[in-house]
Amino acid sequence: MSESRKQLPLVEGAAFSGTHVPLIERYHERLPFDPGDPLVSLQEGSTPLLRAPVLSEMVGATVRLKLEGANPTGSFKDRGMTCAVSAAVREGAKAVICASTGNTAASAAAYAARAGITCAVIVPDGKIAQGKLAQTLVHGARVIALKGNFDQALTLVRELTDTHPIVLVNSVNEYRIEGQKTAAFEIHEGLEGGLEALCIPVGNAGNITSYWRGFKEIGAAPKLFGFQALGAAPLVEGRVIDSPETVASAIRIGNPVRWEDAMAAATESRGSIRAVSDEEILAAFRLLASKEGMFCEPASAASVAGLLKYGADGAESIACVLTGRGLKDPETALANNDGRIIPCLPETGPIEEAVLGDP
Ligand code: F0G
Repeated sequence: MSESRKQLPLVEGAAFSGTHVPLIERYHERLPFDPGDPLVSLQEGSTPLLRAPVLSEMVGATVRLKLEGANPTGSFKDRGMTCAVSAAVREGAKAVICASTGNTAASAAAYAARAGITCAVIVPDGKIAQGKLAQTLVHGARVIALKGNFDQALTLVRELTDTHPIVLVNSVNEYRIEGQKTAAFEIHEGLEGGLEALCIPVGNAGNITSYWRGFKEIGAAPKLFGFQALGAAPLVEGRVIDSPETVASAIRIGNPVRWEDAMAAATESRGSIRAVSDEEILAAFRLLASKEGMFCEPASAASVAGLLKYGADGAESIACVLTGRGLKDPETALANNDGRIIPCLPETGPIEEAVLGDP
């Protein structure tokens, strides 16, 4: 296993304790790993599926939120990354690389650190949220700030990995899709009556591809409704967007690598891929936080924005995927909050006024 740190062996249920096991162990029968394979895990997966009473009331159906921000690095990427990095270690790789709008970078950096291998990430300069950048740096990855966008970064890392022995862990990597499909299994297992519609944000389109693969494998067929940001909606417009723009920096992507797969997922499931504006994304983001107690990042709120805008074609059991945790992007949260902070002197009168006075 080269010089990378020796990994825990893949033995069902043996290596980890706690309320749930790593997803490669939990779903080992459906994933391309064998007993004894190296396992790089941070105990990802098994995330909550939470009922959303306010949204359910608004939509007139049962709406649940799949809380992927509960994964170890705060996004769904960990499902794919445990598989991609475990496979890379199995192959004897010493380094992984990705292009990223932030979350893939944070996840790759964490799993590479855990595996004792090197990680480099290429991110669009100034266009990734601070929490994601902090995570990536603290895990010790090499961060390259590209004077360009995500799509250019991805083209460059694909070229680089064609000519150098570095494993690419973007969702062109099949292990990423394999790992992420497990979220579909979890939702299906968590619902007795099954799921009729899934709402999901779409950027590079790996996740919608993964969910559809997962649902198909277990014979489930909810409609998949994918949502892109209006200024970064290549799949909706049917053309590459050269300069994508959106407040939801995670899905600021103009040329998704899983384009055909995503279109197939929408068509085969009798769903669709549509666009939501930044205003609609931010309204859903605030609604989730203030009415459901759920602080997600803006890109994640695109799933709920889409549901509120377009409905779910009569579905009665709906899940919205909240792909990442709100703490990832404190700048956007602070910039889009109408609550004000009340300055106050440390005295009884001003405190009373501040707490009890008119807002
Ligand atoms: N939501 C979040 C929070 C994301 O970080 C991403 C993608 C998506 C949704 C879209 O998922 O790309 O599979 O369609 N983030 C990637 C990254 C691109 O680099 O972190 P997708």
